[in-house]
Amino acid sequence: MVLPIQLPDDAPFTPEQRAWLNDFLSKALAQAGGPVAVAAPRVPVTVLFGSQTGTAEGLAKKLFKTLKKGNFEPQLHDLGQYEISSLPAEKNLLIITSTYGDGEPPDSVAGFHSLLMGATAPKLEGVSYSVLALGDSSYPDFCKCGVEFDSRLAELGAIRLYDRVDVDVDPDEPYARWSSAVLAKLGPALAAAAITVDEDADEEQGFSKSRPFPSAILDNHNLNGPGDKQTHHIALSLDGSGLEYEVGDALGVYPINPANVVDEILANLPFKPSDVPGPDGEDMPLREALLGYYDIGTLNKTLVQKWQARSGSPFLRSLVAADDKKAWDDFCWGRDLIDLVIDYPADFGDAEEFVSVLKKLQPRLYSIASSPRAHPGEVHLCVGIVRYHTYGRQRGGVCSTFLADRSQGLQPGVYVHTNPAFRLPTDGNVPVIMVGPGTGIAPFRAFLEDRKATAAKGGNWLFFGNPHQATDYLYQNEIEAYHSDGILTRLDLAWSRDQKEKLYVQHLMLQQGAELWSWLQQGAAFYVCGDASRMAKDVDKALHQVAETHGSMTADEAVAYVNQLKKDKRYLRDVY
Ligand SMILES: Cc1cc2nc3c(=O)[nH]c(=O)nc-3n(C[C@H](O)[C@H](O)[C@H](O)COP(=O)(O)OP(=O)(O)OC[C@H]3O[C@@H](n4cnc5c(N)ncnc54)[C@H](O)[C@@H]3O)c2cc1C
Ligand SMILES: NC(=O)c1ccc[n+]([C@@H]2O[C@H](COP(=O)([O-])OP(=O)(O)OC[C@H]3O[C@@H](n4cnc5c(N)ncnc54)[C@H](OP(=O)(O)O)[C@@H]3O)[C@@H](O)[C@H]2O)c1
Ligand SMILES: Cc1cc2nc3c(=O)[nH]c(=O)nc-3n(C[C@H](O)[C@H](O)[C@H](O)COP(=O)(O)O)c2cc1C
Repeated sequence: MVLPIQLPDDAPFTPEQRAWLNDFLSKALAQAGGPVAVAAPRVPVTVLFGSQTGTAEGLAKKLFKTLKKGNFEPQLHDLGQYEISSLPAEKNLLIITSTYGDGEPPDSVAGFHSLLMGATAPKLEGVSYSVLALGDSSYPDFCKCGVEFDSRLAELGAIRLYDRVDVDVDPDEPYARWSSAVLAKLGPALAAAAITVDEDADEEQGFSKSRPFPSAILDNHNLNGPGDKQTHHIALSLDGSGLEYEVGDALGVYPINPANVVDEILANLPFKPSDVPGPDGEDMPLREALLGYYDIGTLNKTLVQKWQARSGSPFLRSLVAADDKKAWDDFCWGRDLIDLVIDYPADFGDAEEFVSVLKKLQPRLYSIASSPRAHPGEVHLCVGIVRYHTYGRQRGGVCSTFLADRSQGLQPGVYVHTNPAFRLPTDGNVPVIMVGPGTGIAPFRAFLEDRKATAAKGGNWLFFGNPHQATDYLYQNEIEAYHSDGILTRLDLAWSRDQKEKLYVQHLMLQQGAELWSWLQQGAAFYVCGDASRMAKDVDKALHQVAETHGSMTADEAVAYVNQLKKDKRYLRDVY
């Protein structure tokens, strides 16, 4: 094999850059002894990913594609399907994993994780590895799953090829840094250089997270009747975008901060507003930057630490010094940047220094509530509007209130977030059980539309719940039409506040336990969407209980059964 010395024709360079790079590559190759006539041995690399909502999976596939173009012999596996007994035979292992729940591994990785952390894990001398850990620093257990994998592999004797990189929400820059460093460690520099250049040529075609599509809003209405709850059905146009999605995917939406809050912040800052660097380094007025590009919403520990260093507040000083988890949670919960600006003034010299302590405003994900087969060229969302009153102020979630209150006449930037870990069975004969209270109904509206459009023969069972039947029965007409048409084989509704005792979806699961078990025995896939902090945990407990009661299992056997369902991709969750 001759190593590549010419850049691909479509590589994104000017003719001058191309000439210089080709010249450089030729000289480097000559120095290395000229074109290699014999096959250079390919470097074996195994990429393993653990992903709940598709980000780690997307990065792993991108890395696999890159490796395939170079002098590597790559393999790609989902950690959920990977046998731990294969680990000792690996030469080079690259792991990309996210963290979910309260510092837990993604659902499908639970089994692998407990085996790796357990006493029977194999010795891994002779294995080289590196970990890219995906997470969000607003969670207390930042990147915990990646951190645990990284230290456990070292304990088992594996050699760290390159230090773990922790990703705080936005993976683009850290992924590029980690993957190019790892490639440089793994392979001949020339091959790595060529594939890095080649890979870049694939980027920036079409609309994506880094190039969102400005989408026209076709419909935006409240699905709830009068009362506290507000849930909006939002239909957006994908016309002309070239964007495609499958049911189970999510839509990323870029919000804009509320102008009244931005103006209140500006009025209370100790310096004159001036231009600041925007997201791509270009200068823009501070007001514009605070409206569209910086996070002025919820507080987190890192921001408060940076703020304290400039504020001189004795209270903040003692909070930072004590570093107590409960004290941090109590302080941050229900407060925004405006509270720091007004109640704990800080001595920023200028606007640039001020924005340097802020995080970038992030897009929010919404489970797609439509099937493209039923609504070509459109994408629908079901958005719970977050409103609350704390510390004397009425507040709102940035993106949900943007969509509900401030998006009129605007075209929000959107992109498709692929989620291969939350798909309908490919075989339409497989029955599906869907548990989706509140906004958790979103992907199941899409599933039902899709099952109807594809004339899938398998049974469909929906558990839905919300406070009151009279005001909170989201998509009532559609659901009842599916039920009377026979598309929805079974429908169980939990109106939590229509009687004295709370009634939740998991109570109905337990009441219908024998039937639920019989569906599972027939191969049904079990889906859960909605609140992660309470509902999804209780539904998980109920599923274990059904296996114990109706499958005559011990508690340990039920755990093994549920882990196997996850491994077989028959227990899939989209929870937030
Ligand atoms: C894969 C995925 C799919 C999702 N799908 C959907 C969906 O289909 N529908 C949907 O509605 N959402 C969905 N979400 C959630 C969505 O992404 C946003 O998190 C949600 O809309 C809130 O965003 P926001 O910008 O409005 O609020 P933010 O500005 O992010 O504010 C939320 C924060 O406000 C604070 N807060 C909220 N309530 C209170 C309170 N009572 N007291 C004090 N503080 C409070 C908390 O700190 C909370 O974290 C999904 C999330 C993920 C990850
Ligand atoms: N990240 C965010 O900031 C964000 C944004 C939107 C939504 N959320 C969260 O996501 C969840 C979804 O909100 P939503 O408006 O769609 O509905 P929701 O608040 O989850 O409520 C839906 C139904 O679930 C019930 N429920 C409460 N606790 C439950 C439990 N342990 N098990 C089963 N059911 C339970 C509720 O009953 P009761 O209310 O009567 O107890 C209600 O009937 C909420 O928890 C919400 O806080 C978070
Ligand atoms: C419900 C929920 C819980 C999460 N819990 C954590 C956590 O405990 N620690 C953390 O660092 N990140 C946490 N995250 C952030 C994810 O790890 C992060 O968004 C990651 O990019 C998701 O990657 P994936 O799509 O491959 O699963 C959580 C995200 C969600 C939606």
